[in-house]
Amino acid sequence: MKKGLYFLISGLFLLYSCNPEPSSTDPPPPPTDESTWATIQNSIFKQNCVSCHQPGNAFATQSGLVLTADEAYNQLINIPPKNQAAKNDGLVRVGTTGLPSLVNSYLWEKINAANFEHFYSDHPEYGELMPLNLPPLTNGEIEYIRQWIIEGAPETGDVVSRNILNDSTRFLFPGDEFTAPNPPSQGVQVHLDQFDVNPNFERELFKYQDLNNPEDLYVNRIEIIMRQGSHHFILYDFTPGSALPPKGVIRDLRNPDGSNNINTLLTMINQVFFFGTQLRITDYRFPSGVALKVDANKALDLNSHYANYTSDTIPGEVYVNLHSIPRSEVQHTAKNLFLNNTDFTLPANQVTTLSKTFKFFDERKVFMLTSHAHQQMLDFKIYISGGARDGELVYYTDDWEHPPLMKYDPPISLKFGEGLVAEATYNNNTSEDKGFGFLSTDEMMIIFGAYYNE
Ligand code: HEC
Repeated sequence: MKKGLYFLISGLFLLYSCNPEPSSTDPPPPPTDESTWATIQNSIFKQNCVSCHQPGNAFATQSGLVLTADEAYNQLINIPPKNQAAKNDGLVRVGTTGLPSLVNSYLWEKINAANFEHFYSDHPEYGELMPLNLPPLTNGEIEYIRQWIIEGAPETGDVVSRNILNDSTRFLFPGDEFTAPNPPSQGVQVHLDQFDVNPNFERELFKYQDLNNPEDLYVNRIEIIMRQGSHHFILYDFTPGSALPPKGVIRDLRNPDGSNNINTLLTMINQVFFFGTQLRITDYRFPSGVALKVDANKALDLNSHYANYTSDTIPGEVYVNLHSIPRSEVQHTAKNLFLNNTDFTLPANQVTTLSKTFKFFDERKVFMLTSHAHQQMLDFKIYISGGARDGELVYYTDDWEHPPLMKYDPPISLKFGEGLVAEATYNNNTSEDKGFGFLSTDEMMIIFGAYYNE
């Protein structure tokens, strides 16, 4: 991490630590006849942005951006950024094509605090996160703007639920020191102890670990915090009745010479996806009333994959907080989606688009989707298959390393026989054909997600 950034972040962290509660100056809930855009203007920009982004202000001149009510919409929509690097990358301040515009909108890049590592390490010329030198917008405000962009960033119309703004928590930037997060007030904390990742080695390991939960847990928020260098982290359960690996023992996927460890591969056959992320810091909240049930005295398989292409040994370490709610508050029990396409070939020196349809033979409400692929992926799309919304794009990413965890509220409703289509494009720029495999130089095409039945 750059030094300047470190100071900026630790500064923000201090600022934030002094004032952890939402301040009393937080705006009152907006009137309900307002358009979504007007709410963004009146309840978010006015309080957090206009002090700098107003005519005559030096910051407005520097950024070429005025965010006062009379100007903001025209200055944002489909306008190229003033920032030259973002402009060269083809970004606009805010695009209007819905989901694909999310990754193409500079405004989104500038406020999406949870993605700060990607922002600063992949785009060091993109300037600072906004609001400049202040704590990030609340998670509710960020989500509200995100959904507005997904809805095509209209100037009129009430297109995003205002309840989202009730979430007044804020993303906390960690310092460079890796510290254990506080355990949840209700629920359990799981810790994958520090382990070494050798230079120029991808260490992927599993550890089947007790959660130490004497009672059933109804998990509706999952936080995952990892040391830097992680490629992914996944929690797996096992199909009932299958042979279980020994508890508390590290099972490496690769031998020191890089070959696969067959014994570890065998333990993967009966794994069932529970939750996963490729972001180093994840705080995923389920829709209210929806929870994953975790049986008393449960153990889960912790799967961590670190890719270390430096010449030093680096430490890996992961904390998971499973926050739970009382049984009486659960309206829907969540289930996991794990849709894995393992049957494909990507011919050498070629761009290939793969498409696979997954149909469901029950009624499902899908409220979370994300994707998993490796470094040759150019983009990954998910469409609805069948029903009134047949062909609708509901997920898009062009970033294999940081795919978003998409939240759908209301959930995507799929009837019997309907499903999801995964469509992914890869550029195999090597001279060898590629297929499904576990190294980050092999490829994958997976939809992870969560749903409930009515
Ligand atoms: C303390 C002053 C300040 C505040 C508050 C502030 N900004 Fe900025 N903003 C700047 C400066 C300076 C730049 C140019 C440097 C940069 O991009 O980091 C900028 C750049 C931007 C850009 C990029 C413009 C372009 O085309 O290059 C966007 C978008 C933006 N700000 C949005 C916001 C939003 C949204 C808020 C409120 C959530 C906000 N800013 C709050 C000072 C501020």
